[in-house]
Amino acid sequence: MNTLLTPALVIDREAMERNMAKMNGILEGTSMKLYPHYKSHKCPAIARLQMEKGAAGITCAKLGEALDLADAGITNIVIANQIVQKEKLPVLAQLANRCRLTVCVDHKQNILDLEAAMAEAGGKLYVTVEYDVGMGRCGVSDKEEFVALAKLIDLQNHLEFEGIQAYAGQLSHEEDGEKRFADVQRIEADVAALKALCEENGLTVREVCGGSTGFAHEKPKNTVYTQVQFGSYLFLDRSFQPLELQFEQALFVQTTVLSAKEDRVVVDCGVKTMTMDQYPPYFPAFPGAQLNFSEEHTTIPVRDHGLNPGDKLLYVPGHCCTTINTFDKVYVSEKGVVTDCWDITSRGKAQ
Ligand SMILES: Cc1ncc(COP(=O)(O)O)c(C=O)c1O
Repeated sequence: MNTLLTPALVIDREAMERNMAKMNGILEGTSMKLYPHYKSHKCPAIARLQMEKGAAGITCAKLGEALDLADAGITNIVIANQIVQKEKLPVLAQLANRCRLTVCVDHKQNILDLEAAMAEAGGKLYVTVEYDVGMGRCGVSDKEEFVALAKLIDLQNHLEFEGIQAYAGQLSHEEDGEKRFADVQRIEADVAALKALCEENGLTVREVCGGSTGFAHEKPKNTVYTQVQFGSYLFLDRSFQPLELQFEQALFVQTTVLSAKEDRVVVDCGVKTMTMDQYPPYFPAFPGAQLNFSEEHTTIPVRDHGLNPGDKLLYVPGHCCTTINTFDKVYVSEKGVVTDCWDITSRGKAQ
């Protein structure tokens, strides 16, 4: 591994596969099917591995990611986001003819626009309605409004109402375990009530979708959710450490020491590669150090470090999903030996 050109993104494959097995253990005996979120790796080779290890489909956020997934042979793709821009809809409609495609809505006009695009392309598009369970992002928070949108979907010739998208992202990093647990149970009850209202109105709710790594282990065995879109469980990162989850760290960045002085070490990686949107990264060799970042350097203010230029230092990303997006490829390490290199084809696919 020490001959990799750095900075190099590295997966500990054994740790990642243990994380996959732990997730399968959490889901066993429940209604939850795994639709892992592609946002955490953006790498078709990993999506295929997730399907081999029991995922029922792959979730993503962007049309460009969904196109990459279809090219990679994934046949069940969920875009857990609204695709509203009219210029994108013909592409979305064509994609719906290449795979089983689900997209999310929260507005009447979007439903009509999707139907128009699908009428042009032919075929069927599955549509969930997003229900805002407290995140304050997209989604409707009124149950009657939800039902009206679901009924409108059902009236269309080329759209099929798939169910409820209800992602509680506000709880992903909630450090107060009691609050997290209570909110997860409250949201379960609220979403179950919405499902019941849909059914009273003659709607079939095939899927209830959502979920975050931060509370995967708190899902009740009799959860109302059927499609869980966990992402970060594969790798973890600094941001999840306070939650002491049962998953393990499986993603690292290898750097090279550029300069080593009495009072500091400087490595070849800065904010153009490291992301800070949730937490800054950290170096396990110097866990408490106050790092100083510039574009292509990180200065670690440490003494008695014993390091020389050319030595290697690993860091743990602050946020795995945004870190992945800064690299073209990821090296796969098994017992410290690089055994593979996978392309992160969807990095930068923001459209
Ligand atoms: C809609 C949606 N689902 C699932 C996830 C995955 O969450 P996590 O990486 O915490 O498992 C995200 C993360 O941002 C998301 O936006």
